[in-house]
Amino acid sequence: MHIRSLLSERIEAAFAHLGLEGQALLQAASRPEFGDYQANGVMAAAKRAGQNPREVAQRVIDALDLTDIAEDLSIAGPGFINITLAPQFIAQASTTPKHSAETHCVVVDYSGPNLAKEMHVGHLRSTIIGDCIARVLETLGHKVIRQNHVGDWGTQFGMLLTFMAEQGAASDSLADLENFYREAKQRFDDDDDFQERSRRAVVQLQSGDADMLVQWQKFIDISMSHCQGLYERLGIDLTPADIDGESSYNDDLKNTIDHLAEQGLLTESDGAQCVFLDEFKSKKGEPQPVIVQKSDGGYLYSTSDLACLRRRIGDFKADRVLYFVDARQALHFKQVFAVAAAAGISNSAVELVHMPFGTMLGKDNKPFKTRQGALVKLADLLDEAVKRAEQLLKDRDVQGKNPDIDDAELATLAETIGIGAVKYADLSKNRTSDYVFDWDQMLSFDGNTAPYLLYAYSRTRSIFSRGGIDPNTLPETVVSVDEPERRLAVAIAGYQDLLELVAQEGYPHQLCAYLYDLAGRFTQFYEQCPILSSEDDTKIRRLALTKQTGDVLSNGLHLLGIGVAERM
Ligand code: ARG
Repeated sequence: MHIRSLLSERIEAAFAHLGLEGQALLQAASRPEFGDYQANGVMAAAKRAGQNPREVAQRVIDALDLTDIAEDLSIAGPGFINITLAPQFIAQASTTPKHSAETHCVVVDYSGPNLAKEMHVGHLRSTIIGDCIARVLETLGHKVIRQNHVGDWGTQFGMLLTFMAEQGAASDSLADLENFYREAKQRFDDDDDFQERSRRAVVQLQSGDADMLVQWQKFIDISMSHCQGLYERLGIDLTPADIDGESSYNDDLKNTIDHLAEQGLLTESDGAQCVFLDEFKSKKGEPQPVIVQKSDGGYLYSTSDLACLRRRIGDFKADRVLYFVDARQALHFKQVFAVAAAAGISNSAVELVHMPFGTMLGKDNKPFKTRQGALVKLADLLDEAVKRAEQLLKDRDVQGKNPDIDDAELATLAETIGIGAVKYADLSKNRTSDYVFDWDQMLSFDGNTAPYLLYAYSRTRSIFSRGGIDPNTLPETVVSVDEPERRLAVAIAGYQDLLELVAQEGYPHQLCAYLYDLAGRFTQFYEQCPILSSEDDTKIRRLALTKQTGDVLSNGLHLLGIGVAERM
């Protein structure tokens, strides 16, 4: 149910009827005293017409026909309209998300680790934020093409392959990629002859030498299987089929340059091929080039991203391309998008968006590192999360709060909570800012955390096992009666709207905030409205609302890529 657009339409129709111009600007109310939804657009509309906003708000209310939709409309503050929805109306909402009215072909570019090294915490954000948005888009009926733009090409591979050849091809040393990289780098720095061989190896590789390609493929496969293991553990939907790495654009790089030349966009500067566009000027107004080919003929990251757009728009026919990439690449994407537009690789019907994110920080407010100052391996981070979650559960058991669970169930639960906590801590923060990674906060049962939501979900489920009731026998729609029921039902009815917003803007924290609010409303309902001890209709109604809450919580957590436990 699209409540916001429905209310907006009605209010804007009232505006038109009164000869006013403007948007209704509807928002889910942030506090109960603001009703369920609040229209914020009256003030601007009144101002434009030179009229008193509160009087305008009253006239809008008089002109509005929201019979069967709202049960109360009131004016608040300088001219907000607070809307309280009618129980019969919200009862029609379904807990299963519906497809959007308009659907797109969306490329979601995420994860994209550099395969020369092992995945570290720096890859976490892109991987989990991108995966969440891909899931949300898919749920709303969009055609989603996941793209894992891995760094699998470039000069480092010359060094790594040369080192691999020295170590013997079937080298076990690749089991620890991080070590392997460090040793190779050491060798590279210490030995001129090794350096020279590494350089030759790059040239051979890039010119398509068959033997070199076999070695390269071996390395990539091992590195990729490291990543795949992590994806599985993290519950990420990426598969090997989603990989279109940098290397896959190699054959199209020359064509891309030729295309830019045909469009008259290339200028030679110090031997390099550059694109100069009006929008890229230094502070002094000097033109700043986007370099697409170096003077030695080598191509750049931007060249492969241009070739990449040719595939995504030309072959995949994407009409949205979303890049979940570190904020530090903002200029790169600005340039790539601008050159692509100037060259006709993209056009105004295609939406290209860099969805940036900030850095994960340690408690010292510096990028998250080990005590030795190395980047934290993702695998180690997840192991620690699970260990801590297990301790959390054991401590809780001492307090007698755990249901009777055996060791195997405890281990599964610790995995769910540990991984879920790490993901949720990240997803629940506004992605554009840096955030401090804090074990104690993320593994708390209080506040906007995974344990809190998982516990809320398990509570919706345990009611059924305690009451010996099969939730599937309950009616799908019920009309709420008491206020805590109604407030819960309103939140459930707002789920579709929320998902549309997340699909459009790409901020998972909005989904987290929604689920946290829903869980809070459920807690109030649970405390104020007895369920199993109620009679007949009341009991059925409350059980049905409980089931709906559980369904939305588990669906929402699933979209965040977080598993649930039936009891904890
Ligand atoms: N591999 C890149 C990196 O580690 C990220 C790729 C992002 N996607 C893209 N189309 N450039 O920085």
